[in-house]
Amino acid sequence: VNSEKIEICGAGFRYFAHVGRGLLGRTGPLIREHVRGQRAAIITDSNIPRPLRDSVIASLAAARFRVTTIVVPPGEDAKSLNEVERIAGELSALDRTSVIVGLGGGSVGDLSGFVAAIFHRGIPHVQIPTTLLSMVDSSIGGKTGVNLAAGKNLLGATHHPSLVIADGHALKTLPERELRQGYAEIVKHAIIRDAEMFALLSSRAPNAFGAEGFRGSFLKGTASGSLDVARDDLIARNIRIKAAIVSTDDRDISGERALLNFGHTVGHGIERASDFGMSHGDCVSLGMVAACNISVKRAGLPPEQRDEVSALLAQLGLPTRLDAEISRPKIMEAIKRDKKFEGGAVRFVVTPRIGKACLSREVTMTDIRQAVAAL
Ligand SMILES: NC(=O)c1ccc[n+]([C@@H]2O[C@H](COP(=O)([O-])OP(=O)(O)OC[C@H]3O[C@@H](n4cnc5c(N)ncnc54)[C@H](O)[C@@H]3O)[C@@H](O)[C@H]2O)c1
Ligand SMILES: [Zn+2]
Repeated sequence: VNSEKIEICGAGFRYFAHVGRGLLGRTGPLIREHVRGQRAAIITDSNIPRPLRDSVIASLAAARFRVTTIVVPPGEDAKSLNEVERIAGELSALDRTSVIVGLGGGSVGDLSGFVAAIFHRGIPHVQIPTTLLSMVDSSIGGKTGVNLAAGKNLLGATHHPSLVIADGHALKTLPERELRQGYAEIVKHAIIRDAEMFALLSSRAPNAFGAEGFRGSFLKGTASGSLDVARDDLIARNIRIKAAIVSTDDRDISGERALLNFGHTVGHGIERASDFGMSHGDCVSLGMVAACNISVKRAGLPPEQRDEVSALLAQLGLPTRLDAEISRPKIMEAIKRDKKFEGGAVRFVVTPRIGKACLSREVTMTDIRQAVAAL
């Protein structure tokens, strides 16, 4: 297996993300390096293809783990206290030396990580992300949690995994709509940290890969090995970006980690105004369009770079215009309620040029309202 190892470290934590095709079949030995216990609980959801689950179970068993598999509902529904309690009830055979393995997207990762954080006050957790979003974003950084009726991710804990295993093979069955969600965060990483990656993504024009088109080939991966490699590189590159930010600013202190919120202030507002009917990546895409408009005005972003961002998002099948039915005032209400507003002063992430981002205190509510109106 051709794989890459990326270090994620900071105050009190150090672990590796392994990226490469076929790694799922090596789960057992990889986890064995970190866990001495006899038992492993796999938490996964009912949508994750059986072959993925089976290959992880077989590999763990071969590494002398006694495996329990716990299946949760797919998607956001899994992130509930009810599920936490139900899962905990099935963990009675586990002890402090056992390991919890989350096999799935960000929902499974957040839930399984939270269970690992609180079971016996914390046992080892391994993230095996199976969506593009979870590979490049949610599996890295140690944020875990579940939702309450009052809001998303309200109950949580910081609990870094012992290991992350990202196998590009897992993406073969992922619906295009879900791939897109990951691409929104990848574009975000490019804008805040990696102008070269932005250019690389932009240069893959819609028909560069023939009849199947951009989405059919580059996004989805085809039988062609070179495209698979291109996407594995992309996954590794994005993990490195998130790892670097998380490593320098584990606790949101220097403000570095806040840069990951680029496009998310307006994005979250749209998510809430749509009553979570729109997916996160789609909302972040619109949020980035708004943030770029604000950046032209407040951070000197060249207008042609703003247009390049919109063009790339559109190429990736992400929205750049907001549906008329979504209420603009409702978006503004949601943004105002957002916790990032401190005593009336807005901390807003802007980009002065693609590849660089910073926090600005000069952005006003009027700027945001105008940018939302222009969507
Ligand atoms: N902890 C963090 O730092 C962090 C960061 C970003 C997002 N998140 C959280 O991540 C969650 C979203 O994660 P997500 O986008 O991965 O969605 P998800 O986990 O809800 O998965 C989306 C859908 O894809 C299915 N799926 C997953 N892998 C598949 C595969 N290989 N083949 C076919 N279907 C598959 C799932 O069953 C689900 O139906 C949200 O709850 C969000 O709050 C957390
Ligand atoms: Zn996001």
